[in-house]
Amino acid sequence: MTAQAKVDKLKEITNIAEKRGIFFPTAEIYGGKAGFYTYGHLGKLLKNRFENLWRSYFLEENFWEIEGNSILPSQVFEASGHLKNFNDPLTECKSCHFRFRADQFVEDALKIKAEGLSIEDLDKLIKENKLKCPRCGGQLTKAEWFNMMFPITIGAAGSKDISYLSPETAQNPYLSFKREFEALRKKLPFGLAMIGKAFRNEISPRQLFFRLREFTQAEVQIFFDPEEIDACTEWKKISSYKLLLQSVKDRKGDKVQEISCEDANKKLKLPKMYLYYMQKMQRFYLEELKIPKKDFRFYELSEEERAFYNKYHWDVYLNLEALGGFKEVAGLHYRGDYDLGAHQKHSKKELAVFLEEKKKKVLPHVLELSFGVDRNIFALLDIFFRVEKERNLFAFPSSLAPIEVGVFPLVRKDGLAEKAQTVNDELCKVGIRSFYDEDGSIGRRYRRVDEIGTPFAVTIDYDTMKDGTVTVRERDSMKQKRVKIAELAKSLK
Ligand code: GLY
Repeated sequence: MTAQAKVDKLKEITNIAEKRGIFFPTAEIYGGKAGFYTYGHLGKLLKNRFENLWRSYFLEENFWEIEGNSILPSQVFEASGHLKNFNDPLTECKSCHFRFRADQFVEDALKIKAEGLSIEDLDKLIKENKLKCPRCGGQLTKAEWFNMMFPITIGAAGSKDISYLSPETAQNPYLSFKREFEALRKKLPFGLAMIGKAFRNEISPRQLFFRLREFTQAEVQIFFDPEEIDACTEWKKISSYKLLLQSVKDRKGDKVQEISCEDANKKLKLPKMYLYYMQKMQRFYLEELKIPKKDFRFYELSEEERAFYNKYHWDVYLNLEALGGFKEVAGLHYRGDYDLGAHQKHSKKELAVFLEEKKKKVLPHVLELSFGVDRNIFALLDIFFRVEKERNLFAFPSSLAPIEVGVFPLVRKDGLAEKAQTVNDELCKVGIRSFYDEDGSIGRRYRRVDEIGTPFAVTIDYDTMKDGTVTVRERDSMKQKRVKIAELAKSLK
């Protein structure tokens, strides 16, 4: 795709999203604020469907969803290390005082990967390449760390009681671990999931809806006995499943290996439990979300790139044309005992647990499945967007489409509108999300539902009044067939 086409795709998706109520900038009437977006009515429906699919797919036996808080006390983030380490490198122009992320700036200017570099390395690259302010050409200050946490004061204590907006949902399950372990039959492994808001004070949010300051995460924290990391009860079923992997070594030449779980265990030394969740995540994308295989890969993070406590860290990357290539939408992190260990130390409350069956005490390790919900929603918009001769459409699978059926009377008169409304009501009653529209020509109404990814359109015409049948048009093929109203809901389902 040419650079021009990339810009156009992003523009097209953004235009449709804003015009049709998928997403738009928050507080737009006041000029908005970078990094904050609102889901409109269609975007919210799409997000709900994604989240529900995610829940039904990932909440395995003994995995439970909890709902913690977005605001958490400062001790949590002293323990987790966020107050000290959750930083991005910041540089400032000495002339115009424009402030921006030093690593992104170096990436853009030198076309290299700079995320995760030390500030010394970034300064060196800026100096050696004589890089100047992208706005005014001025000299840049030395890079310094900028903490991305949002502080917040609580109650009347003001600045004497600082808490923080949580930058990941993960902390809530760690804080709830002991209570839930006791409540859930005191067995490992078990999983605590949370879908919730996370907040990061990005220096310069870019890529519109893809990188936000307030965003939604869907995460599962799996607590397990560390001795079990290379165990998997499902191994026979999954060992020949082929993963699509780009290891650090494969980056050169942009290669992706298709490798069985068995070989990944033997050759790449990835433990079986980790591989089980890799295949599960890959299947979620390929089989549930219907992402084309060519647009999916697991991307390994190098030692410098991953958080120091992550022993294994591979991200899910999807190919997003509108953003110029493969981008991170999810990750699988083996966090070891870092989190429970840190909270145990700082709170002075024991978080190690006694396993009755094994007659031993363990501090559980954690495997984390982490998904950026908004990034996934953007990815769905990008991957399923099609531009055809006379129409734009989102070719979403039916399980994700925000509206499942459009119901149209051919004309408003002669009782057709009333009949169409009855059909619409009946579809709603049986749980099909349908939408009635009588405005404009039938062709324009088809274009409108195509543009929001609605898989079917039902038209009520003069034959309906005679023989009780309607026309059902399928979005992708635009093929039409006649179906009896009495069989419509069953046929759509
Ligand atoms: N909880 C992991 C992350 O926020 O990336």
